[in-house]
Amino acid sequence: MTAGQADALQRLWPKWGLDIDGQCVVEVGELFGNDNPVVLEIGFGMGEATAQMAAGDPGTNILAVDVHTPGQGNLLNLAEQHGLTNIRVANGDAIILLREMLAPDSLDGLRVYFPDPWPKKRHHKRRLIQPEFLSLAATRLKPGALVHCATDWEPYAEQMLEVLTAHPDFENTVPGGGFAPRPEFRPLTRFEGQGLDKGHVVNDLLFRRVQREERSG
Ligand SMILES: C[S@@+](CC[C@H](N)C(=O)[O-])C[C@H]1O[C@@H](n2cnc3c(N)ncnc32)[C@H](O)[C@@H]1O
Repeated sequence: MTAGQADALQRLWPKWGLDIDGQCVVEVGELFGNDNPVVLEIGFGMGEATAQMAAGDPGTNILAVDVHTPGQGNLLNLAEQHGLTNIRVANGDAIILLREMLAPDSLDGLRVYFPDPWPKKRHHKRRLIQPEFLSLAATRLKPGALVHCATDWEPYAEQMLEVLTAHPDFENTVPGGGFAPRPEFRPLTRFEGQGLDKGHVVNDLLFRRVQREERSG
């Protein structure tokens, strides 16, 4: 961790940080101090893309979660430098945040960009995008909320497409199904750049949480 990142954590965590302790349900409107839509980004890494998206869409709040402390300091620094008040940084496991600390129907979107691909077969069970995770996420997302994933690991992209397509709580926004073109609001991320340098193909997936009536019907 750089001195600048450590300094940002110390100064800005009390204002913009959230500790994931699983002890209480967070009212997201109170967390941001307004009723703007809230998008959860899981695994923001160093946060450059997160800061860019927050700057490009100040009317959307981003709750950004990662376990990586230097990245948390980096993102807090970027938020301060660019005067971004629509970012909150959560430290810990996104699953605990979703399960224990976020209320049903509290999120307007979910972003998962370049999650750890766990390429070895025996590690596939560690991948984030799995049916159980999607079922949990669906309960925290409002009907109509967008789920946006991207990966440069093609076997994982195929798995994401398969589990999202099969899940009854989500529908593909792409007519006829399949991968989506990268939406303009998503900047290139740090890990994406590394993947592209290696010649990897990047795939985006854009699904919508279906309406409750459709779910019960
Ligand atoms: C491969 S990096 C991608 C970072 C960034 N999105 C990018 O594209 O540059 C994946 C990130 O997910 C974080 N991560 C993995 N599992 C997580 C979890 N359960 N909760 C929160 N963050 C997690 C890691 O710490 C890491 O920073």
